[in-house]
Amino acid sequence: MRTRYNAVITALGGYVPDTILTNHDLEELVDTNSEWIVSRTGIKERRIVKDPNIATSDMATLALLRLMEDGNVQPDEIDCVIVSTSTPDYVMVSTGSMVCEKAGLKNAWGIDTNAACSGFLYALTLGASMIESGRSKKVVVIGADKNSSIVNYTDRNTCILFGDGAGAVLLEKTEEEFGLMDSFFRTDGSGKENLIVTAGGSKNPASQETLDQKLHYVRQDGRVVFKAAIQGMTDTCNEILKANHLQSSQIDHLVPHQANLRIIQAVGDNLGLSAEQVKINIDRYGNTTAATIPLCLWDYQKDFKAGDNMILTAFGAGFSWGATYLKWGKLRHKTSENED
Ligand code: COA
Repeated sequence: MRTRYNAVITALGGYVPDTILTNHDLEELVDTNSEWIVSRTGIKERRIVKDPNIATSDMATLALLRLMEDGNVQPDEIDCVIVSTSTPDYVMVSTGSMVCEKAGLKNAWGIDTNAACSGFLYALTLGASMIESGRSKKVVVIGADKNSSIVNYTDRNTCILFGDGAGAVLLEKTEEEFGLMDSFFRTDGSGKENLIVTAGGSKNPASQETLDQKLHYVRQDGRVVFKAAIQGMTDTCNEILKANHLQSSQIDHLVPHQANLRIIQAVGDNLGLSAEQVKINIDRYGNTTAATIPLCLWDYQKDFKAGDNMILTAFGAGFSWGATYLKWGKLRHKTSENED
């Protein structure tokens, strides 16, 4: 239940690596072709970290620095950094801690959360709760993943899908009717059979055997995930619409997790939304896991007006899925036309 304040997004930042991995590049690596990839997924290219010294926290920090610059936020003002990632820098030492260090945040604490592709949405609700309760004043929520660190570039079922990137939002309190209004989330652990990185955690610590069996790479049953994603996102969007007495015609923007263009279009069709209502950037970035939704918000921010009704929805490993309803607010300092 919401208490004193609403939590509203007041600044955004994003980062994708410079290196572009095109479908034609992938034709050199696996038995595939660009036409197949575009028609089955909508992905034309994705960004990949080339420099082995760049980890998830570096991308997350660059997204945060962009947010601080565009939003005119000083490092000392930020209370808390929540990083959602499935590809942390380390098993022990949170990526949130690394981001606070690298961005020079002296008054903040940083943690990680992980719900794979749903991670940003879940973290956004956690961050909003910190603001709504009055416990924090400025919470940064980041979705960041270096998927190239867990993708097997000899497996055509997965390597065509994923890219690297990071997106960040700043949450602050408002007494106006803007911000996060409601969330509806679900998880089903039995879904782990269909989308998982099996080794590297406490269940299957790294060993010669796990390396030999390539268990440190993501593997999936694409068809099962495909169907479950459409169902899960459609159902939770409908739940959130119903709970908030909204018709789909009242939704200005659906910002879905970007896993597959056909999944996104099916969810949009199921909800009765027009193409203009559904925000898409999968063609350029592929699936950046926890980063897709904040990167999409970052890309489309100029289209959003204060008071717009928005539904964010995601589906990912776990299985984990859900939808969040928010009313767009006022950004602290919109990027002006003559700035990059
Ligand atoms: N290039 C060419 N052919 C490929 C291919 C590729 N990269 N990957 C698979 N194929 C082949 C398959 O081997 C299969 O051949 P077959 O019929 O001879 O067995 C054929 O294409 C169709 O495979 P299928 O798995 O049915 O394709 P699809 O239309 O379901 O598309 C995915 C595959 C992976 C793109 C799709 O299932 C998907 O996007 N699933 C969701 C994955 C996802 O979002 N994961 C992240 C979670 S959020």
